[in-house]
This record gives sequence, structure tokens and C-alpha cells, in this order.
Amino acid sequence: MAAANGTHAREERQKPDIDWKNLGFSYIPTYSHVEYKWRKGQGWDDGRLVKEPYMNIHIAATGLHYGQSSFEGLKAYRMKDGKVRLFRPDKNAERMQISADAVCMVAPPPSIFLEACRRVISDNIDFVPPYGTGGSLYVRPLLFGSGPQIGLHEADEYTFLVLVIPVGEYYKGGVSGSVKALIRNKLDRAAPHGTGHAKLGGNYPAALGPVNEAVKIGYNLLLFLDPATHTHVDEFSSSNFIALTSLDAEGRRTYVTPQSESILNSVTNRTLREIAEKRLGWKVEVRKVPFEEVKKGTYSEVGACGTAAVISPVGTIGYEHEDGRIEEIKIGDGSVEGWKALFKEFSALQVGEVEDWEKWGYHWPAEGI
Ligand code: COI
Repeated sequence: MAAANGTHAREERQKPDIDWKNLGFSYIPTYSHVEYKWRKGQGWDDGRLVKEPYMNIHIAATGLHYGQSSFEGLKAYRMKDGKVRLFRPDKNAERMQISADAVCMVAPPPSIFLEACRRVISDNIDFVPPYGTGGSLYVRPLLFGSGPQIGLHEADEYTFLVLVIPVGEYYKGGVSGSVKALIRNKLDRAAPHGTGHAKLGGNYPAALGPVNEAVKIGYNLLLFLDPATHTHVDEFSSSNFIALTSLDAEGRRTYVTPQSESILNSVTNRTLREIAEKRLGWKVEVRKVPFEEVKKGTYSEVGACGTAAVISPVGTIGYEHEDGRIEEIKIGDGSVEGWKALFKEFSALQVGEVEDWEKWGYHWPAEGI
């Protein structure tokens, strides 16, 4: 039974029995999620922890009918000092505002976004993987129009919720694995000048069927080219596109990632760029990436990067021609040394294994949860 303040008496709870070393990336029931509501004329309420993973939704909610719906993905880590902290949650709060603006929703202010994350993590602290297991607590904020409309109008009520699940690798093998990506001939993820830059639920489901078809023929994910010309790389169905050149005479690589108005501004990608530059001394280029460069072997390594995917090396890209023929492009010689070097720095920073982790200002809250 829930206590009056929306928390649950600890003694009712059975501690989860989780194999921390073998976590994948799928839904696992936890103790609770947190729910806030915004109503026109009233603003945001104080939120509450909810035990059941279900809710009553109005049958005419705009989130269901007109796709007024946005989500985020971030991670909390049990760090070397034993405390639990979120990694760059302010960036996700900012991006939720951008997504909300794209589809005329009211986003929670950063203070509510952060407090909601803290509350749900604190209530589900038993689900945070222990330090050293490689796992993390995936935090999934969701914002949607819950007020009813049948004419095409924005809602006058929004629900913001945050749920959490313990996770391990998204693609098997993580940074030591290798995935295959497929470019379909007649499939775009986003429209030119559309909503590809926003993290909207509606940007994802068109890839579900094609990903299933791709899996049947041995691929793991899709790669999309820019929707206007189909000549430049945009991003993967699940994550951003990143690439590395081989080591130059000075022992440096160049980290290249697309600049495009129709891709997500990945927090992981931004962090990796900073690490590549500041800790590894590599060059970083954010620019249009002609697919021709990938074809002609400019890059020794290609990867998919995101909160869930972290860095997942891509060993092969299949390019579907007009006649349905798939041309396979192998990336480099299969080595993923560059990604491994970057991942080592990235994961050490996330769990506070590097001495100056506090100076980066990436962890919140400072005192831990
Ligand atoms: C994430 O990386 O957090 C995402 O939201 C991607 C999703 C397809 C799992």
C-alpha cells in the first residue's frame, strides 16, 4: 500500500534479485515511477510516486491521437565513491524543451525535470547496478499531451513521467562487438525541415518494420541518409553516426560526425567529442559527411552512439540499390581500437574513476543520491 506522501513502506518491498553482470536492455518492473501534471491555468503540480506501471489516459488525449509525445534517455551510475549520480541530466532537460517546442507542448522546467529524476532514482535505489558491473540505471522521462482534443489542437493538460530500469548493453558485445547497418533505398527517418532534431515518439516507429526485415537478413539497425538528397549520412535508427580515421603520423585520429538539421543532438556524441579532444588529443569535425567517404574507405572505424547504444562499432554497412541489390561496405580492417580507447575514457568519467571528474561538471547531484 502506498503511504500518504506517495512513497511506499520499505518493509513491503522484496529486494530485486538481479544478475547485474548479464543485464540487457529491456523493461524490468521496478518499485515505482514518478508522475507530474501540467494543467492550463494551474501550471505543474507537485508530482507523486506511483507504484503501478499503469495509468488512466483520456481516450482523446493528444499524445495518443496527434503524436504530442516526447521522451528522453539518460543514465545514473553507482560511482567509485559509492554514490549514485546522473550523467549530464541538464542536457536532457534542455533537449526535452526543444522537443516540446517542436510539437507545441509544455515541457517541465529543468528544476522539475531534475527533481523528478532524483525522486524516482531515490525510490528505486535498489535497482541501480553496483559499481564495477558495467551496468547503469537507465532513466526514461516521457512527456505527452494527456488532455483531450478531437480537432487538431494542442492539449491543455500534459503528463510528465519518469521511469527507470537497470540496463547493460543495448547491442550485444558493446564496444567489443560489431553490428551491421543497412541503408534502405526508399526509406527516410525524417523530412527535410521536419522534426528529426526533436526526440519525439513519432520519429521512431516507421523504422520498426524495416528494422525487423533487416534483422531477418542479418543486419542489426538501419542507417539513414539525409532525406533531401540521399547523399550525406544522417543517423542510425537508434543512435547517432560517428566515425574515426586511422592514426596519423602524430598518433592522432580525427573524430567525424554529421552536421544535419534532421538528426538528434546526442548528449553522448557531444561528450565523446569533448573527450576525444581534451583527453585523447584527437581532432574533431562536425560537418556534412558524404556517404561517398564511407564507401571509399575514409574511415577505419564507424560507430553508433547514444545513451543506450553507448559506442557500438559498426563493421559493415549494406547499401540497398534501386533494384533491391545490397552492396556491402566493410569498414576498415575490423579493428575497434579507437572506439575502445574512447570508451575507456568515457566510462571512467561516468563512474568517477578519473581524478578530475568533478571538474567536468557532468554529474548531478554533487552530493549523490
Ligand atoms: C537512447 O539512447 O536513450 C534512446 O532513447 C534510443 C532508444 C532507441 C533506445
